[in-house]
Amino acid sequence: MPRIAHQELTELVTQTFTKAGTPQAHAEIVSNHLVASNLAGHDSHGVMRIIQYVAAIGSGEIDPQARPSTLSDSPSGASLAGNRAFGQVAGYDCMSLAIEKAREMGVAAVTVSNCYHSGRIGTYAEQAAEAGMIGIILVNAGGGGQWVSPFGGAAGRMGTNPLAIGAPSGGKYPIILDIATSVAPEGKVRDYRNRGKEVPEGWILDHQGRPTTNPNDLYEPAPGGSLQPLGGAAGYKGFGLSVMIDILAGGLSGSGCCRSEEVAASDGLTMLAMNIENFAAAGAYYDQVKALVEHLKSCPPAPGFKEVFVPGEHEFRCREQRLAEGIDVDEVTWSALQKEAPTS
Ligand SMILES: NC(=O)c1ccc[n+]([C@@H]2O[C@H](COP(=O)([O-])OP(=O)(O)OC[C@H]3O[C@@H](n4cnc5c(N)ncnc54)[C@H](O)[C@@H]3O)[C@@H](O)[C@H]2O)c1
Repeated sequence: MPRIAHQELTELVTQTFTKAGTPQAHAEIVSNHLVASNLAGHDSHGVMRIIQYVAAIGSGEIDPQARPSTLSDSPSGASLAGNRAFGQVAGYDCMSLAIEKAREMGVAAVTVSNCYHSGRIGTYAEQAAEAGMIGIILVNAGGGGQWVSPFGGAAGRMGTNPLAIGAPSGGKYPIILDIATSVAPEGKVRDYRNRGKEVPEGWILDHQGRPTTNPNDLYEPAPGGSLQPLGGAAGYKGFGLSVMIDILAGGLSGSGCCRSEEVAASDGLTMLAMNIENFAAAGAYYDQVKALVEHLKSCPPAPGFKEVFVPGEHEFRCREQRLAEGIDVDEVTWSALQKEAPTS
């Protein structure tokens, strides 16, 4: 498996997207986002997506030139049309506008309908935290990508409907919770399949609703396999979160909620930014967050664990390591990059 320095990989990915008709500025947003996902350890939302995205440009699912446009606007919120833009371009614009409005109003919410796949949504939480704000990000696929079975169900009815919450910490890294509301996102199963590995127990059911560890079982012809909702025996909690995110991201944005008709995935985004200083003195807030982190990190590890991690720490450590050592790119993705890159 080739190991590539992040700068070289970013350059290669940018060139691949510009060759496919993407303006340089958009190609850079997408390639930086994808490589940052690899750096954070989320290979499922990293450069592995090139094959999918280049095909989606070809099929018209992505308009590489597009940027979101305003449908409605108020001092504390806006509703944007995604215009089939890259999800990373739409997501960046969505959080940028929420931050700008929250600087004036304290809190702002911005939605985007009908953009393409929004990637690792923790990136938008980091964007808010870098601006000194709390960021909340809710995403659905507009009724597409129904990989996840409801709690107690044996077939896919929901998307992986992720949630991210980011908070600046005043420390080396922000506190970032960034999770699918399924046990794992579909992309992780695809990554296991690309790497020829079995998925962990508890992730997926086959087309008859039986637990399986073979990633290919998820991709069987209809009715196909399904991903389990987050929470195992308490999977009704992950399922409940997923339903509410479908309403908040799909219903509010206009992308649409999951429903019985088959639709192509088309992301709906709802993003909130909260300006800390409108709620608490910045010093007091940072003191509280630092004390919380110290308190958690002081916890003795349980058997089988070396230490307690706080949300966002795993990604921070992985980023430090991969910045120094490079990123392992799976063979399927690497050969696609070789094929698509302009010099090949
Ligand atoms: N755009 C989309 O449509 C979409 C859909 C689903 C998922 N995703 C992305 O998929 C990625 C992976 O999602 P996932 O559900 O597999 O995430 P995951 O299971 O890897 O969990 C990640 C979260 O858990 C924290 N974490 C990890 N290990 C920890 C530990 N030992 N102790 C404490 N906290 C820990 C991380 O800091 C992070 O906040 C995310 O980046 C998400 O944005 C995107």
